[in-house]
Amino acid sequence: MKYTTILLVLFFVQFAVGEMQKPHFLMPVPQQFELDENQYRLSDTFAITVKGDCHPRLFRAATRTLRRLAGRTGLFFPQDFITAETAPDQAAMTIRVNRPGQVVLYENESYRLVVNAEQIVLEAETDIGALRGLETFLQLLEADKNGYYIRGAEIKDSPRFPWRGLLIDACRHFMPVDVIKRNLDGMAAVKLNVLHWHLTEDQGFRVESKTWPKLHELGSDGFYYTQAQIKDVVQYAADRGIRVVPEFDMPGHATSWLTAYPELASAPGPYTVERKWGIMDPTMDPTREFTYEFLDAFLKEMSGLFPDEYIHIGGDENNGKQWDANEDIQQFKKSNNISDNHALQSYFNNRILKILTRYGKKMVGWDEILHPDMPTTIVIQSWRGRKSLIESARKGYQVMLSNGYYIDLIQPTDFHYLNDPIPEDTPLSPDEQKFILGGEATMWAEFVIPETVDSRIWPRTAAIAERFWSPGSVKDVDDMYRRLDEVSFRLEELGLLHIKNKQMMLRRLTNNTDVTALEILVDVIEPVKIYTRGAQRAYTQQSPLTRVVDVAVADAEKAREFRGLVDAYFSEPAQSKLDKMKETLDVWNANHDKLLTTIGISPVLKEIESLSADLSACAQIGLEAIALVENGTRADEDWIKEKLETLEKAKAPRGQTELMIVSAVEKLVKRAGKM
Ligand code: ACM
Repeated sequence: MKYTTILLVLFFVQFAVGEMQKPHFLMPVPQQFELDENQYRLSDTFAITVKGDCHPRLFRAATRTLRRLAGRTGLFFPQDFITAETAPDQAAMTIRVNRPGQVVLYENESYRLVVNAEQIVLEAETDIGALRGLETFLQLLEADKNGYYIRGAEIKDSPRFPWRGLLIDACRHFMPVDVIKRNLDGMAAVKLNVLHWHLTEDQGFRVESKTWPKLHELGSDGFYYTQAQIKDVVQYAADRGIRVVPEFDMPGHATSWLTAYPELASAPGPYTVERKWGIMDPTMDPTREFTYEFLDAFLKEMSGLFPDEYIHIGGDENNGKQWDANEDIQQFKKSNNISDNHALQSYFNNRILKILTRYGKKMVGWDEILHPDMPTTIVIQSWRGRKSLIESARKGYQVMLSNGYYIDLIQPTDFHYLNDPIPEDTPLSPDEQKFILGGEATMWAEFVIPETVDSRIWPRTAAIAERFWSPGSVKDVDDMYRRLDEVSFRLEELGLLHIKNKQMMLRRLTNNTDVTALEILVDVIEPVKIYTRGAQRAYTQQSPLTRVVDVAVADAEKAREFRGLVDAYFSEPAQSKLDKMKETLDVWNANHDKLLTTIGISPVLKEIESLSADLSACAQIGLEAIALVENGTRADEDWIKEKLETLEKAKAPRGQTELMIVSAVEKLVKRAGKM
């Protein structure tokens, strides 16, 4: 082939591929899919029919799908509630299932979805698979000037892992039922299937116990779920194909239990509900029969309340201080040849396991429950590192990963996204890998309240959901961020407040005046990460979580965009990129004077005044560096040194937040020194 022919062919190949790869917004990406040029055009006559032997949840899900579609398109669909009786024989969309699904681990969640110009067919073994397919269907909605259409597709999909969870801590701060429900809807939208409901903690006992009523009466400040509410949430979750695994943390993290029943404790009471964060001493006494009688009755009650086969017993962070200080416990260890506290905790766990087994339940616990004395019927949740994941799988324990999915730690989405339960370089053999059930994102609630919790869970958890569902080979970070934006906005229709509450919080912070300048700052800062927030300031359960740090989110998009722009310039310099940087830097440079006016009437903002000044100073430095680059003038050493020192200081957190654009400006300054 002649060179020009090759070029021509390349051009057309690229064109054709480009057409085929018109961006889609599927998240999680399906196992196998092909999108084509077909379009099913939506009109007012669109209807759904459900065929086959299914659980009634599918009729409710199909109806919700129809309402969401109507909500997005403004089309007046004729169907009201879809039922077996009212479903038409023929409809634009046919859902066909073989059997009723069960909301249990390993249920078949696969589906096939075919969309062409004439019809839409969704087929699944179970109605739960059909639910997953309905969410994919909604992600195929697009529009053009002629109206709305479902994009032509042939999709064959099933999850990579059977356990795809989100932990919500309802203890550190109580999360009312509506918070749980809207997050269940968000979970369903991204195909997560386990709500791990953290219900007991040092700081609160959040479930009504009729057997031991002082637990919720004295351990909750009145903030607990009634049993009717629990049943309602379990039903709501099951309707979305989501299991609810309750966690009753024991023997540590137990102050609220001991507040109600000090006779359970390893040291004399009285106890009061803990108000601070951290690892506390109060621990149940594993040597007294009363403890097991108490827990037997409690777990019997909870086994009836929660239908899932699994109950999580926590087991984390028992510091052993009360055990070490208790003569009777030391004596018990000696007489029973129990070598250390870990073995003593395993003795306790084995006693609990017997109880759970009697009530038809399996035990899940944090990685501290891994011990040679424990049988391999228990499930381990790996949180302190990957070591326990590897060790559990090698020893034949089923295990899931939470290390790397701690969304309370404010790490960026790509960090979580690239954290794979079974990475390519896993040391585990294929047989060992079979023990890995999946993973869970964890929303610990020290620093969230109902109005902010969604903004910590979403949208990052959608990317984690993709990690658990999609093939491991799906890991293009840029493409993930592109789709994440769309998914995030779509989650709003489910009532999630992660986007909406930002303006509300900004208005409160500015005393209902112009929020523009504050928003410009908030968009380029992030809360401090890992465990530094609690270390930088003394917080209690009652501390306000309505400050600037609480409006700021992980992975600040505007800052990420700017860093991306600077990197893009360095890999391929272009004046247009410099111009874009200057435009942004000009806005930041001018922002501090504007924000000062707001700070003047809103003392709550005083704590970020110097941070705001630093943003403008960084922007000024960036502009100077770009001017040098544009002029081809090499910056002198003193200038570089001075600017880098200023930038270093700008990295210091203020109000437990930090500027996320400093590293990009540093790159510009260093570049100016290399001209
Ligand atoms: C944990 O984060 N303590 C399980």
